[in-house]
Amino acid sequence: MVSSAIALATTENVQQPRPASKPVQVMAVTGGKGGVGKSNVAINIALELGRLGQSVLVLDADLSLANIDVLCGVKSRGTLEDVFDARATLDDILVKVDSNVWLLPANSGASNLTSLTDAQYGGLIQGFSSLQNPIDTMIIDTPAGISNQVTAFCRAAREVLVIVCDEPTSITDAYAVIKVLNTEHRVKHVNILVNKSNSSQQASDLFEKILRVADKNLDVVLRYLGSVPSDEHLQLGVCKQNPVVLSYPGSRSALAFQKLAKKIQGWPEPKQPLGHVEFFVERLISQSTCAGVSE
Ligand SMILES: Nc1ncnc2c1ncn2[C@@H]1O[C@H](COP(=O)(O)OP(=O)(O)OP(=O)(O)O)[C@@H](O)[C@H]1O
Ligand SMILES: [Mg+2]
Repeated sequence: MVSSAIALATTENVQQPRPASKPVQVMAVTGGKGGVGKSNVAINIALELGRLGQSVLVLDADLSLANIDVLCGVKSRGTLEDVFDARATLDDILVKVDSNVWLLPANSGASNLTSLTDAQYGGLIQGFSSLQNPIDTMIIDTPAGISNQVTAFCRAAREVLVIVCDEPTSITDAYAVIKVLNTEHRVKHVNILVNKSNSSQQASDLFEKILRVADKNLDVVLRYLGSVPSDEHLQLGVCKQNPVVLSYPGSRSALAFQKLAKKIQGWPEPKQPLGHVEFFVERLISQSTCAGVSE
């Protein structure tokens, strides 16, 4: 399946990928528990990275519900399924959220992005390669839970960001995600972000707590990305369908997102020679194939 998909993308009737200017950073945002702030973190970090001059693509992989488009007050014109069925091009369905930031809706239609046919993967690779704007960072907003689809996205991303809140259910779920990714999917490093925190001390204490348990039981490197305070401005932004970094740029949570985006921008560039978004798709294919798509 891997070779045929790649072959499909390189036959004459499919355009060759453009050479990349630089490798794409792909980050999957996850957390296990619902409502911990994954989508808000994904879009607000994307917007801040956009302000720092990066071209950012947010893949809304929460297939079940309308999600980031609602948070941003934008209307999607189609989904990835329309691209797969040749009703639209990738450019047609991309929604511009802000200068430098695009949303790629996958919420309705593409029922399982991790079990596409070779032809669909080929089309996706071609679509990414012909985008007008080369992408610097792709942020994948995953649904709640730890389904095969969530783990497939996390495996395919270069970086995994686990969102955790200081509540027993969130801590248990976040740890379960880290454990499954590490023990079943060979994910060796994970970033942690504490959301809805009351203080930075409380947030770093929570990270230390998770770190201690992980160090004892898992073979994983946990990196503390930082925290976002509990902030009513973020909720007001949600109600106004205007993410907090745009609606309340001076608020505590918006300032936290600025800081986090600067940290992410400072991460070392991915080293792999494959340097376009198709890397993500190809890796998704090969890893899904290795592990068995319907494992
Ligand atoms: N830092 C914060 N301060 C205050 N409220 C927050 C914060 N982060 C998130 N919330 C609240 O939590 C709600 C859920 O956030 P969000 O939709 O981003 O979570 P999610 O993890 O993506 O949820 P789902 O699992 O349903 O996809 C928001 O509507 C907002 O009210
Ligand atoms: Mg969400």
